[in-house]
Amino acid sequence: MAATGVSNGLTVLRGTLITCHDDPFLTDPAKAFSVESDGIVLCRDGMIEAVGPAAELLASVPAGTPIASYPGCLIAPGFIDTHVHYVQTGMVASYGKQLLDWLDRYAFPTEIEFANEAHAARMAATFCDELLRNGTTTALVFCAVYPQSVDALFAEAERRGMRLVAGKVLMDRNAPEALRDTPQKGYDDSKALIGRWHKHARSLYAITPRFAGTSTPEQLDAAGALWREHPDVCVHTHIAENRREIEWTAQLFPSAKNYLDVYDRHGLIGRRAVLAHGIHLGEEELCRCHESGTALSHCPTSNLFLGSGLFRVGAVKDPKRPVHVGLGTDIGGGTSFSLLATMGAAYEIAQLGGRALSAVEAFFLATLGGARALALDDRIGSLAVGREADLTVLDPNATPLLTLRNARADSVEDTLFALMIMGDDRAVRATYVAGRLAHERAA
Ligand code: GUN
Ligand code: ZN
Repeated sequence: MAATGVSNGLTVLRGTLITCHDDPFLTDPAKAFSVESDGIVLCRDGMIEAVGPAAELLASVPAGTPIASYPGCLIAPGFIDTHVHYVQTGMVASYGKQLLDWLDRYAFPTEIEFANEAHAARMAATFCDELLRNGTTTALVFCAVYPQSVDALFAEAERRGMRLVAGKVLMDRNAPEALRDTPQKGYDDSKALIGRWHKHARSLYAITPRFAGTSTPEQLDAAGALWREHPDVCVHTHIAENRREIEWTAQLFPSAKNYLDVYDRHGLIGRRAVLAHGIHLGEEELCRCHESGTALSHCPTSNLFLGSGLFRVGAVKDPKRPVHVGLGTDIGGGTSFSLLATMGAAYEIAQLGGRALSAVEAFFLATLGGARALALDDRIGSLAVGREADLTVLDPNATPLLTLRNARADSVEDTLFALMIMGDDRAVRATYVAGRLAHERAA
C-alpha cells in the first residue's frame, strides 16, 4: 500500500474537504455544506483532532509526520448506509419478482444458509470488504434469525475497527420453519446479543423485527419490552414498501389505524427507530414519525428494482414536519453497495416526482442525515473536531468519462453531482476507519 499518512496514532490527510454541518433541506444549503479547497484533516487515536485550511494547520503537524495527500480528490465523512442486509449479499440481482414473492423465492432460502457459522464468517468478511470498497464506514444491518450470524458480523467489523449497528431478525410467523423463532426465544437471543455486543468496541445493537407481517403481536410486544429495557439500542424494521404488503398487513392487524400504528402500539417507534422504505406512508403517519423522532431509510435502487414505488423525499422532508431520513442500499433488494450510486438513484426518483435533489441534499442523506437517523451525529457523519475519524476519499477523475465531465465542473457541488450520477466503487480512492487506512483503490 502507498504511504498511509499514519504515524504514532496520528493520521494526516490533505485534499479538498467537503462536509455537511446541518440539514440543507431545512437550512440555507450554503451554510449547511462547507468546502475547504486545500484542507487538512488531522486524526489522533481514531478521532478528528483538527480540520481546516492547510495554510493554517500545516504548521501544527509534528515534523516528520507523513501526509496522505490527495490532490484533486474530495475528502468526506465516511458514508452511512442506513439499511442493508448482509445475509442477502450473495443474492443481489435476482430476477423477476416483487417484494412478497421475492422474499419467498430468493431472500428466505439465502438466509437459511447463515445457520452455518463458517458461511456467516465468510460472508461477513465479503460484506465488510464491499462496504469499505464503496467508502461506507457505518451501516445499520439486518442479520439472519440466527444469533451466530450476528456474532460473525460484529466480530468481523470489530477486527476492522468499524462502527456497525446490527441485529438478529425476529420472525415467528409467515416464514419457513427454519427461519422462525418464538416471542420468548427472539427476546432471549436478542437480549443476550445486546449483552455481548452493544457498546462493545464500536458495535451497537438494533432490535430487528423483520416487518409486521412476519411477527405475531406477541413478538412485537416482546420487542417493545426489550427496547424499554435497553432504550439506547436502535430498532430497525421495514414499513410501507409495497402495496400488496400494506394490504396484507392491514388484514393481519385489523385494529391498527395504519401501518405505522402497528409499530406504535407495540412501543417500536421513536428516536433511534429506523424504518426502511416508507414509500407509501400517509400524511398522518409522516406527522407521527416527525413528532416521535422516528427515522426513515430511503432505499432508491431497491424501490426501482423491486418495482415498489417512488419515495417522495420533498414531502417527507417538508420543513413544516420534517422526518429524519438516511439513505439505504438495501442489498439484496437494492442493486449496489455504493452510496454514490444510491444518491444518483435518489436523484432519478426525485425527478420522477417532479423535484430535483441537489448534490448537497443527496450528500447530506448519505452522511450527516444518516448519522442523525441513527442518533449518532455527535460521533459520525461530519468532518469536525471531536468526531470519529471515518473518512472517504472520492476521486472525480476515476474514469475517463468522469474526467471529461469533471473538466467542465464549475463548482465542487457540480463535481459532487457528476460523482453521484456516474460514480460507484471506482470513485472511492481510499477509506479510513477510525483514522486508519482500511481500503485503497488499486492503481
Ligand atoms: N420487507 C421485509 N423483509 C424485507 C427484505 O428482506 N427486503 C426488503 N426490501 N423488504 C423487506
Ligand atoms: Zn430491507
